[in-house]
Amino acid sequence: MIRAAVLAGIGAALPSRSVSNDELAETLDTNDAWIRTRTGIRTRHWTDTGTNTGDLATAAGARALKSAGVDSADLVILATSTGNQPMPGTAPEVATALGLGNVAAYDVSAACSGFLYALSAAAGAIAACVAERVLVIGADVWSTRLNPQDRSTTIIFGDGAGAAVLRAGNGDEPGALLGFDLGSDGIGHELAQVAGGGSRERGSGRPPNPEDAYMTMQGKEMFTHAVNRMAASSEQLLERIGWGAADVDWCAAHQANIRILHTVADVLGVDRSRMLVHLDKAGNTSAASIPLALTDAAKSGQIKAGDRVLMTAFGGGLSWASTAMRWPELDVMEISTDI
Ligand code: UT7
Repeated sequence: MIRAAVLAGIGAALPSRSVSNDELAETLDTNDAWIRTRTGIRTRHWTDTGTNTGDLATAAGARALKSAGVDSADLVILATSTGNQPMPGTAPEVATALGLGNVAAYDVSAACSGFLYALSAAAGAIAACVAERVLVIGADVWSTRLNPQDRSTTIIFGDGAGAAVLRAGNGDEPGALLGFDLGSDGIGHELAQVAGGGSRERGSGRPPNPEDAYMTMQGKEMFTHAVNRMAASSEQLLERIGWGAADVDWCAAHQANIRILHTVADVLGVDRSRMLVHLDKAGNTSAASIPLALTDAAKSGQIKAGDRVLMTAFGGGLSWASTAMRWPELDVMEISTDI
């Protein structure tokens, strides 16, 4: 029998600095009512100078280990597109900061789908006996890459980190990841991107443009793809694991926009009240959004042991992913906001 990856702990962290819609409206041509009605976001958290992605990842990872009641893992996978620096990856620093010793550690770059991609990598490592216990973290600090004059990105993105501990176990245990649906479409790679800083820049023949360090996004196109891809991927996954829409107690979908969450629910035939919503408090936190939403819902008692949870994500790349589990009995800490 194939060894399953089983959720053993979860935790999350947000920077202490909260940035309201009204604060953004002081410098951008926008307003609280527009942001709330068009996105569902009320506030987001941005790091202050001196706090980096690794710091948030470490805080979330520490909480997940505590939630699991353990102080070791033999693999750390960090999903991020905004690591501490372009090279090396940030995961080894995080493993060291957590006191995990010389364990395997690497980054996964799959934008807002990164956490679910990292879960699939962890499940593969456990199935192949590469690891017994894996710490998976999704962390992003997009605030350093937002063009302060671009209202379409600046109002949406927040910084944050969320983490999960997976252990080797059996497929019929609560917390076992039941399967995956993953996909990508590189034709859409320009729809959400940081154009500069990579090898493509040199080939363009143009001098580097400082604005290319910022993230740009074609919001309307991303909106449509997000709905279509998360709905189709969820349907594939549900069919594969033998669940119907009515079996889904909670759907933790990537927290990009409340209108996306509602449309995905409608397409899937899942009641809108079953969509976990955390974006009102943190905006779109990219690779961190799903573990943040899960931690919030588990801590508040919204998700209970035994509930059937579907997870689905979409992001730059384009990339998408879905997985599902029955929620296990977990001891969950509040989301940290003291970084
Ligand atoms: O995380 C990866 C996946 N990311 C996503 O899925 C992002 C998906 N996209 C979105 O969430 C939405 O497209 C946005 C929130 C980015 C934009 O919302 P929208 O409803 O698509 O707005 P729009 O670009 O169609 O603009 C509608 C109107 C325009 O005005 P006119 O031309 O109708 O007069 C915009 O100029 O709203 C205006 N507008 C704004 N007004 C106030 C656009 N952004 C803003 C703003 N504040 N921030």
